[in-house]
Amino acid sequence: MKKSFDGNLKWSDVTPKAQWMSRRSLLAGAGAMMVAGAAQASIETVPSAFSTDATPNTLKEITSYNNFYEFGTGKEDPLNNSAAFKPNPWSIKIDGMVDKPGDYDLGDILAGVTLEERIYRFRCVEAWSMVIPWNGFELATLLNRVGVQSGAKFVAFETIVRPEEMPGQQSRIIDWPYREGLRLDEAMNPLTILATGIYGEALPNQSGAPIRLVVPWKYGFKSIKSIVRITLTDTMPYASWNAINPREYGFYSNVNPTVDHPRWSQASERRIGGGLFDSRVDTQMFNGYGDQVAQLYAGQDLTKDF
Ligand code: MTE
Repeated sequence: MKKSFDGNLKWSDVTPKAQWMSRRSLLAGAGAMMVAGAAQASIETVPSAFSTDATPNTLKEITSYNNFYEFGTGKEDPLNNSAAFKPNPWSIKIDGMVDKPGDYDLGDILAGVTLEERIYRFRCVEAWSMVIPWNGFELATLLNRVGVQSGAKFVAFETIVRPEEMPGQQSRIIDWPYREGLRLDEAMNPLTILATGIYGEALPNQSGAPIRLVVPWKYGFKSIKSIVRITLTDTMPYASWNAINPREYGFYSNVNPTVDHPRWSQASERRIGGGLFDSRVDTQMFNGYGDQVAQLYAGQDLTKDF
């Protein structure tokens, strides 16, 4: 029988997928639930009004076509080169302008939250997209728990550095650690989540185990993986792609079909899978999440603050 990355049997290893899916819908709305006897059991989550009703990509599509340069630059490198990565145990340093800074064990963080299922559109700056059923919780829940101080204006994030487990970090393609940032109001928006799973299973290594950011109205590179540090600050944080090429990758990087990348159009995107062939769909402003986030940018010129 197949074992999960940490050696524990997963619920999905012992349950036929169809049965698991129907059991899961029976439980929808029942709240978070642990399956007795399995430490890394499948995640039970509550559904969310923020989910799209578009058909999600398959787990295979979502976990075999990835960008995670710590494991290499090819789309299948993260799947093929991440087996040695150990996402357990894990803690996150939360520091800067917070009332309760510290090194927080991931288990303790998760004990205090209710995991939701959020089926989000996901749009990469390279003009491909998927629909992904994340399991996670609002970043605001965590930030409120540690107490954001009044002068804080931005949130900075860092990925772990472990070149011995992440072969891509042995090259200097990025000034490691991979870093990203959000403005505080973006971080506090209810759409912004920290994800710990996909399809009710713990995040596989290539997807950013054990915990990653998901900001669905921004290009995918803002959704930083395998987070070990969150810092509240009053200055705009360093962001890896923005630092590499500020003309091509803005700090905001809101999905915007009217602002092209200097080397390609952003007006449409290739939706991975969804039948025999990938399909071409029009890109939506804010990736279709304008009702929730457009007001965050009132008065800003999004061709300049791109
Ligand atoms: N986070 C880290 N640490 N390293 C990366 O290379 N790639 C980003 C983002 N987060 C990346 C990262 C990019 S470019 C994209 S499009 C998304 O992760 C891809 O997420 P996915 O592979 O789960 O689809």
